[in-house]
Amino acid sequence: MHPHLERVLFTEEEILERTKAIGRVLSADYADKNPLLIGILKGAVLFMADLVKHIDIPMEMDFMAISSYGASSKSSGVVRILKDLDRSIEGRHVVVVEDIVDTGLTLAYLRDILMHRRAASVKVAAMFDKPEGRSVDISPDYCGFPVPNEFIVGYGLDYAEQYRNLPYVGILKPEIYKR
Ligand code: XMP
Ligand code: MG
Repeated sequence: MHPHLERVLFTEEEILERTKAIGRVLSADYADKNPLLIGILKGAVLFMADLVKHIDIPMEMDFMAISSYGASSKSSGVVRILKDLDRSIEGRHVVVVEDIVDTGLTLAYLRDILMHRRAASVKVAAMFDKPEGRSVDISPDYCGFPVPNEFIVGYGLDYAEQYRNLPYVGILKPEIYKR
């Protein structure tokens, strides 16, 4: 285990198991829909890569990079698009692939943007869900694991851009982000 972690929440094996299960469900739900999976950079990169390997129907991928407006570490709900999609999503069945849903503000805003672009449907697959953090009534349609209201890193999730490469997920020691 990385020395900056308090404890591991989910091992690489557990994460892969859940990812495979979500891939199977998406394959059934989107058979003949040629879904467009939109990975949200950078946090969702590991989840996206593992997930698509277990989707066995025709599908496409695209990516968006977004950042919360303002300097505050708290989500404001207004997102700035740093990298937009390559193509129109009009009439497409979209699955947003996210690392974690916390307040839900980012997701609510993103979903509005995508619906406004006249997608046929917009659903959300999130590897982690922090239900205690929620400030708007939105939940992922497909979810890997619920997590406690603590700061977690690994499997794409960062603190100051570090730890994204850990193949497992754990709780960061508070002394690391308080110093
Ligand atoms: P919302 O708008 O749902 O934002 O509050 C979700 C985004 O907040 C980040 N986030 C985290 N990142 N560990 C992280 O590394 C966490 O525990 C955590 N909780 C929220 C993340 O960027 C996510 O997309
Ligand atoms: Mg982050």
